[in-house]
Amino acid sequence: MKLRLKVISMNMFIIVAILLVSGIIIIRTIDNFNLYTSYQYVLSQSKFTEQYLTEYLKISEKPHVSLELNINSLEEKLRLQSGCGVEISGSDKASANEMQKNALEGKKVYLISSESPNRKLLMAFPIIVKGSVIGTVSLEYSLYQADSMKRNLQITLVILLVFALSVSLVLSYLFSYRMIKPLEKLTLTTKEYSKGNFNEIGGVKTGDEIEKLAHSFNDMGRNIKDMIDRLTDEQQKQKKFIDSVTHEIRTPLTNIIGYADLSGRVNEEEQRKKYYTYIIDESKRLLNMVNNLLDLSQLNQYEFSVTKKETDLKNVIIKAVELMRDRAGKFGIGIDYQLEDIRARVDGEKIKQVVINIIDNAIKYSEGSLVKLKLWREQGVFIEIRDNGIGIPKDDIKSITEPFYRVDKSRSRKLGGNGLGLSICMEIIDAHGGKLDIDSPEGEGTIVTISLQP
Ligand SMILES: Nc1ncnc2c1ncn2[C@@H]1O[C@H](COP(=O)(O)OP(=O)(O)OP(=O)(O)O)[C@@H](O)[C@H]1O
Ligand SMILES: [Mg+2]
Repeated sequence: MKLRLKVISMNMFIIVAILLVSGIIIIRTIDNFNLYTSYQYVLSQSKFTEQYLTEYLKISEKPHVSLELNINSLEEKLRLQSGCGVEISGSDKASANEMQKNALEGKKVYLISSESPNRKLLMAFPIIVKGSVIGTVSLEYSLYQADSMKRNLQITLVILLVFALSVSLVLSYLFSYRMIKPLEKLTLTTKEYSKGNFNEIGGVKTGDEIEKLAHSFNDMGRNIKDMIDRLTDEQQKQKKFIDSVTHEIRTPLTNIIGYADLSGRVNEEEQRKKYYTYIIDESKRLLNMVNNLLDLSQLNQYEFSVTKKETDLKNVIIKAVELMRDRAGKFGIGIDYQLEDIRARVDGEKIKQVVINIIDNAIKYSEGSLVKLKLWREQGVFIEIRDNGIGIPKDDIKSITEPFYRVDKSRSRKLGGNGLGLSICMEIIDAHGGKLDIDSPEGEGTIVTISLQP
């Protein structure tokens, strides 16, 4: 059953019930009052009649004979006097009706008959002369007035019912429309939500709980939409990342399988050695990539959290330099530094990793002859790693810190680069609340500046 129909029928039911019950009670009360008044009237007339007949027959020698002789004139006189139908009968029990029999036994009885279209109040009582019952008088009083009042009240009740029902039908319809319209809007909105359309519900200005519900729906819709946007964003990032990882891992793996297969089939030792070298190089590249990926995912997992503690930054940088110095020498690159004594609250291991990655880049890509490191304090702590190589094209600088981004793809792959180093550096510095800037002024090489606010 529809809600609107429920509201309307409930209102109708309440109105019918209230009107019927109160109408019936009112009609009965008024009718009882009318009957009581009529009874009182007939009773007073019966007393008068009784008294009159007693007085009239008292003087007679043979009262019952006198009664029988004057029955008609007495009836007529009493009828005019009392306004009731009057029937006087003798003491013959055989021809008496039930009421008259009771009267002959000395009782005064009455009853309301409802046989004819109008009810009647009947009363019978004995005529007692000198202690003996010589006959009965029956009074008949028409209850026409009480009946017509009852009928009128019943008709009024029916008219009132029809009127109240019509008014209530119209009002209930209008009221339920106002109440149900916003609910219908809410239902439609939930259907739209299930299809993925999170449009706002407008125009619900009922000023009650339904308006609050509409606001809650709008809030919910906005939150779900935000959440879906965030998840979609996250999903896209993950997909891009996984796509790149899969692609990057597939290449060295294919090479390893290919060279392993070839080395089993060639006879010349020289050739086989060359393939082994390829396999080792590709395996190292794969291992390097997996290590970098692990670092990235670990940083993601812990929301790039770093464990900061009081650290001798100068010492951290020197350690990184010493680790790289031999390799740099093989490429004909010297490493120079100018470091202030600075202690700061940082994650020393992670900062070392950043410095190593940046020196590694200078060794691999700069084609220069010198890497210079500087550490100084000046409204924060700064580390600068600068080379005098070929630099990075301006268009690439903004994307260089994205995972897997490389400038010269074939060259960096040859050198074992996967484009992850700088993105890892960026994550680490971000987690420190610092900044990593890469600059490459024309003909000056590459300058990487790390600013920390420990
Ligand atoms: N000092 C530099 N001089 C010239 N080009 C550089 C320099 N540093 C980085 N690049 C360019 O930026 C790219 C991205 O560097 P990044 O460190 O992120 O990756 P990668 O070194 O190629 O790989 P990985 O660090 O994962 O081994 C490099 O491929 C290289 O093309
Ligand atoms: Mg690198």
